[in-house]
Amino acid sequence: MGAQQVRDGFAALYGTEPDGVWAAPGRVNLIGEHTDYNDGFVMPFALPHTAIAAVSRREDGVLRLHSADIEGGVAELRVADLAPESDKSWTAYPAGVVWALREAGHPVTGADIHLASTVPAGAGLSSSAALEVVVALALNDLYELGLRGWQLARLCQRAENVYVGAPVGIMDQTASACCEAGHALFLDTRDLSQRQIPFDLAAEGMRLLVVDTQVKHSHSEGEYGKRRAGCEKGAALLGVDALRDVAYDDLDAALARLGDEEEVRRLVRHIVTENHRVERVVSLLSSGDTRAIGPVLVEGHTSLRDDFRISCPELDLVVDTAMASGALGARMTGGGFGGSAIVLLEEADVEPVTKAVEKAFATAGFTAPRVFEAVPAAGARRLV
Ligand code: GLA
Repeated sequence: MGAQQVRDGFAALYGTEPDGVWAAPGRVNLIGEHTDYNDGFVMPFALPHTAIAAVSRREDGVLRLHSADIEGGVAELRVADLAPESDKSWTAYPAGVVWALREAGHPVTGADIHLASTVPAGAGLSSSAALEVVVALALNDLYELGLRGWQLARLCQRAENVYVGAPVGIMDQTASACCEAGHALFLDTRDLSQRQIPFDLAAEGMRLLVVDTQVKHSHSEGEYGKRRAGCEKGAALLGVDALRDVAYDDLDAALARLGDEEEVRRLVRHIVTENHRVERVVSLLSSGDTRAIGPVLVEGHTSLRDDFRISCPELDLVVDTAMASGALGARMTGGGFGGSAIVLLEEADVEPVTKAVEKAFATAGFTAPRVFEAVPAAGARRLV
């Protein structure tokens, strides 16, 4: 699916050429999981898979939405009537962005939008953030709002938190809006300060595989929110604004203070050690010690599995099989409860590790996974 096809789709649907065509990518997260709603550190990079939007401005208060990927016709809404949590279908994502822009005082008076996406849905690869960001960027351009990438990310997060009703953090939207090709994004989610870290595995003879377990997940389904609430409880018990404020060196003392709050202790331990892992990965990559990040990724997975408790048998099987077959590192990526894992490995190990994972899935009776290689791609941009 390219810009021209989406442009043609728009013309066939609405009878005119669009004002422009934009793209926004999905992401994988290298390290830093569930730290974003704790004001912590994350390190995602953009995938070549994108949501593409052909968009025209309207002045009459009407918002028309259509997706090439979903059965059904054009949804027609009035921007003045958009209301949080009133829509349970896919249109809540683009409509939520229009709502968030208007609520922030930006005079968006309508649009015709035709979307198509190659980001697999429900695979933990940020298909929703890609949809939000592509619409936000298009409207930012068409209405000349002058908003920067991180500001668009904040508005998209608000759309998802309030309009859609999913309590997600800021990582995915910022990744989609701000990532750069060939780099991973080291993001401080407290102030959204960013550093682009060169991440060119091929130059060093390595590869990164994404293994989509095909186990679908949804963040509005409660478990994500429970983890978030548990982390907030931990911060409150420890008297800090967010778990980001618990220093790694103070972890034991903090855990001791939490006494018999066993569940909160586990959540706190994950967040504090995970922030530390992000910092370790940044420093290893900065000193050119790329292979040494492998064990840190595996530690991250163990922490998500045992302390945060958001893995699943399929994700664990990817990690265990990949490591037993010679991978340098592997872990689940994204929100958890299904979705995708990443595997860092030598170029020569791509085929044997892929085969081993596929075989292990077949033996376990799991649906065959979808495996592809990920190279850090560009963030959101105008195509036409
Ligand atoms: C989902 C959320 C993000 C983040 C990750 C876990 O992708 O959208 O905000 O919390 O889970 O790291």
